[in-house]
Amino acid sequence: MGGQVPELPVTYDALEARARDHLDDRAFGYVAGSAGAERTAAANREAFGRWRLVPRMLVDVAERDLEVELLGRTLPAPLLAGPVGVLSIVHPEAEKAVARAMAGLGLPSVLSTVSSFPLEEVADAAGEGPRWFQLYWPAEDPVTDSLLQRAADAGYEAVMITLDTRLLAWRPRDLATAYLPFLHAEGLSNYLTDPVFAAGVAEPNEHLSATQAAVMRWIQVFSDPAQTWSHLRELCARSPLPVLVKGIQHPDDARLAIDAGVAGLVVSNHGGRQVDNAIGSLDALPGVVAAVADEVPVLFDSGVRTGADAAVAIALGAKAVLIGRPWVWGLALAGEDGVRHVFRCLLADLDLTLALAGIASVRDLDRGVLVRAGSEPS
Ligand code: FNR
Repeated sequence: MGGQVPELPVTYDALEARARDHLDDRAFGYVAGSAGAERTAAANREAFGRWRLVPRMLVDVAERDLEVELLGRTLPAPLLAGPVGVLSIVHPEAEKAVARAMAGLGLPSVLSTVSSFPLEEVADAAGEGPRWFQLYWPAEDPVTDSLLQRAADAGYEAVMITLDTRLLAWRPRDLATAYLPFLHAEGLSNYLTDPVFAAGVAEPNEHLSATQAAVMRWIQVFSDPAQTWSHLRELCARSPLPVLVKGIQHPDDARLAIDAGVAGLVVSNHGGRQVDNAIGSLDALPGVVAAVADEVPVLFDSGVRTGADAAVAIALGAKAVLIGRPWVWGLALAGEDGVRHVFRCLLADLDLTLALAGIASVRDLDRGVLVRAGSEPS
């Protein structure tokens, strides 16, 4: 505030605009884009506008506390870096830069299955930092089990299975630029370094390069759209790591997930990238929280852009929130420093929002601090 203007933007829209200038059109479109007419992505943001905080005055907020307990660990704040794949398209240090930035803040980062670096290398970059692994659930159990064992061996503390992406959605921006990085073997490092996956890759020949052979196997193995809740129960039973599921929007699915044995769930619609014209993820949160009835932690993502957004999601029952695109823009613009910048901004914004609303601890956030936009405080 002394006159030295920050090198990176401090609002989401300005970050995205700067990244648009910086990145090539295909990479920008891949990150920014959503499914169909992008109405779900818009709904994610609109849903936040339907809730308002009601600030209270003259509460002692001299000492503030953002700490939360999650899966047996105390986190300094209820924020995580959500899983985002194939980060080499925005920055050469990709997931390693994210791991270093998040470890420095003591906040978990969730490594995507389709990362640009193998999970063991990212674990090394994270050092002592808390880390979780996201799983795109393969079509072959031995590949699934191998990935999970590798994640457990490399110190990942939980696996987050993404249920909403068994098929890739209709994404017009990527279709228009004919862009799917995986088809160029980008984002396949965890598969290519996996002995079980590698054993099934066809021998290259004059018609098939080694890369084409690997990509073809990946297409077969990536997912199995026939999987159902009974398969999840089996997977939870044999997983070496606690299982969370990501992509829950319906209260009944929350119950099915709990019955299958999950240790937590994430209310998410993948940032609007899968089903177009769906409800905003925040609109799904209260119903899921009610159905879960505190049996397992409920996390939230899709559309969180500010500290106040995080506060609203937590007040509606989320234990913590995952951040998606905001830090990807930070990474694109300035690598590790850019990721750190985005999280420091969010942390400061959340801290100030709570303090100014008269809430000393993040654990005191509940429905009582909110009203529906347009209604009077009672
Ligand atoms: C994602 N997301 C995602 N989720 C996942 O489980 N595995 C993945 O590999 C990816 N990859 C990915 C790439 C890109 C470019 C984006 C933007 C998103 C979804 C992500 O974890 C999260 O659910 C959304 O990003 C949240 O929405 P916002 O905050 O980006 O609007």
